[in-house]
Amino acid sequence: MIITVTLNAAIDKTLAVPNFRLGRRHRSVEQTSMAGGKGVNVARALKVLGQPVIATGVSGGPTGTRIIEQLTDEAILNDFVRIREESRTSTAVVDPTTGEQTEINERGPTVSPAELELFVDKLLYLAKGAGMCVFSGSLPRGVDAELYSHLIGELKSMGVAVVLDSEGEPLRIGTRAEPTIISPNELEAEELVGHEFADDEDRVTGVHEMVELGAQEAIMTLRTGCLALLGDEHERTLVSARLDPDEPVSKVGSGDAFLAGYVAARYTGRPPEDCVRFAVACGAESTKHFGAGVLDPREAERLAGEVEVSHLLATARK
Ligand SMILES: Nc1ncnc2c1ncn2[C@@H]1O[C@H](COP(=O)(O)OP(=O)(O)OP(=O)(O)O)[C@@H](O)[C@H]1O
Ligand SMILES: [Mg+2]
Repeated sequence: MIITVTLNAAIDKTLAVPNFRLGRRHRSVEQTSMAGGKGVNVARALKVLGQPVIATGVSGGPTGTRIIEQLTDEAILNDFVRIREESRTSTAVVDPTTGEQTEINERGPTVSPAELELFVDKLLYLAKGAGMCVFSGSLPRGVDAELYSHLIGELKSMGVAVVLDSEGEPLRIGTRAEPTIISPNELEAEELVGHEFADDEDRVTGVHEMVELGAQEAIMTLRTGCLALLGDEHERTLVSARLDPDEPVSKVGSGDAFLAGYVAARYTGRPPEDCVRFAVACGAESTKHFGAGVLDPREAERLAGEVEVSHLLATARK
């Protein structure tokens, strides 16, 4: 079983608004509303990829009820802790004329210490039957930035492989707890290592630094694929996977689909280069669909054949 954790679950509303401009009144030509939050998107993609997955986290109020109902309607196994405050609604406006996308995320609920304790108990219970656990997204208000770090330690001691896809403080502190995999995008990676990447050499240095900070494997997603330092301290492989970017329908959640592809391939024991190849294909395929974590698995398999994977030399660093 794979667990996905979403502490900022939401209803994700996506609106297609041609010629979107600030300060104007618009009418959307298409709209979708689905359960979201990064971990939920990962769970949706994992389910469609045929992997056993359960989504957990916290959800509250009428929006929280809708999140759980929608997950259940999609037949995504879920076990969330109900909280007192209302879960958020996140809105993305996609302009089909430019492909540009604007996101507005509500602040979200505060989680009380007692609610958080219930969640931690639930997670540790679920983890007894899990092989992998994915922590995705930001932390809600009221939750200490050390939470992921603490949970990574607990789950790893139970033999669960742990994936962390977050940003800022929770990612920085969480990486020190030695998660199995981190998968920031380029901006998040720059912030994590503390410098900008001007060229490929900087990017290669960046993934090495992420491993030095504690991650066993570091995967940085790029617009054109990813750069990953995989393996463990015995043997490390530096892999670059490339696929020419195509005209997206919506890029919302492409990183989540990417991660689901990687986790699905790894969970089924595929070799590292196949895992990144499939991940890039899933990320790219998901951009052809409106809705985060939505992808066509057969198309993803086909696209995987088009991904160019190359092995770079993993430089020995202190
Ligand atoms: N226009 C595109 N065409 C093809 N593939 C794309 C396109 N945009 C993104 N991707 C793929 O999606 C994957 C994830 O991209 P990105 O770095 O944007 O993730 P992210 O910023 O973490 O996204 P998210 O908002 O889901 O967190 C990458 O592997 C990239 O190759
Ligand atoms: Mg991301």
